[in-house]
Amino acid sequence: MKKNIYQPLEAVIEDVITETPSIKTFSIRPKEAFSFRTGQFIELTVPGLGEAPFTPSSDPAVKEKIDLTIMNVGAVTSRLHALGKGASVGIRGPFGKGYPLDQFQGKDILIVGGGVGLAPLRSLLFSLFSASGNYNRIVLRYGARTSGDIIYKSSLPEWSKIKKLDIAVSVDVGDPAWNGKVGLVTAVLDNLPVDLANAAAIVCGPPIMMKFVTLKLLDLGFPAQAIFLSMEKNMSCGLGKCGHCRIGKYYACKDGPVFAYEQLKNIHDIWE
Ligand SMILES: Cc1cc2nc3c(=O)[nH]c(=O)nc-3n(C[C@H](O)[C@H](O)[C@H](O)COP(=O)(O)OP(=O)(O)OC[C@H]3O[C@@H](n4cnc5c(N)ncnc54)[C@H](O)[C@@H]3O)c2cc1C
Ligand code: FES
Repeated sequence: MKKNIYQPLEAVIEDVITETPSIKTFSIRPKEAFSFRTGQFIELTVPGLGEAPFTPSSDPAVKEKIDLTIMNVGAVTSRLHALGKGASVGIRGPFGKGYPLDQFQGKDILIVGGGVGLAPLRSLLFSLFSASGNYNRIVLRYGARTSGDIIYKSSLPEWSKIKKLDIAVSVDVGDPAWNGKVGLVTAVLDNLPVDLANAAAIVCGPPIMMKFVTLKLLDLGFPAQAIFLSMEKNMSCGLGKCGHCRIGKYYACKDGPVFAYEQLKNIHDIWE
């Protein structure tokens, strides 16, 4: 029988980790094994309420469970934040193209995340770690508003032990407990240990952060075709049918959500 693409697959919340006061990571177990490529997204259904798009933050090699790191911003996400272990949800997908790992091979990889934008990048990091021989250096730069807004706090010290990975984290506003860098994430983009002639930069975060990071990367000498952006436009069908996610001639759900800046640079208002 042909699969109904609008019919969610049943799943159960197996674990919930509170990352920050407004962000939680939900580990969900679908009824059947579920595959996705890093950077692809799913539609998550809260029964009786509706659905919203999220990019899994877990390792795509794991098929029986998916992690979703979700910020509480409105109707669906606040209901999700109220759910606990054992609650039923649904998933549709995966949708979109995800990260073009083949184009990253043999390169220095710069990953720049802002806030909850580190979620899809964590999935990308897992993919890079498991094939680390395919890449040169991996450089992670992450910015959060305050130290209390940093996600994956327990993973960051573990990742900093990985030889190939160079990490720097900054917070917009410092506090007595924070002894790291204070400033916008662009402040940790100077003196990058990457070979600009052979590098790819992957950026995910709020639109304003992506705008200023992209401008900074261009200024540093990254070509537009080497900068990859996750465009989180409002979405509905996820299938290139409803037109909600249009960016110029593209549909973010079908042609993205990951785009090279080269594809978008002449489109008006891409940061809104
Ligand atoms: C491809 C994709 C991947 C995403 N991945 C993640 C993720 O991993 N983690 C995460 O926390 N969020 C992610 N988002 C954003 C997430 O989909 C929205 O936060 C969610 O749809 C809000 O739903 P709501 O019903 O709670 O909010 P609503 O009640 O619908 O709206 C509340 C506020 O959120 C804004 N908003 C609504 N929908 C979106 C949207 N799709 N994108 C951005 N802002 C929106 C509204 O403008 C409004 O200001 C992703 C979005 C897309 C398109
Ligand atoms: S979400 Fe419907 S066309 Fe993209």
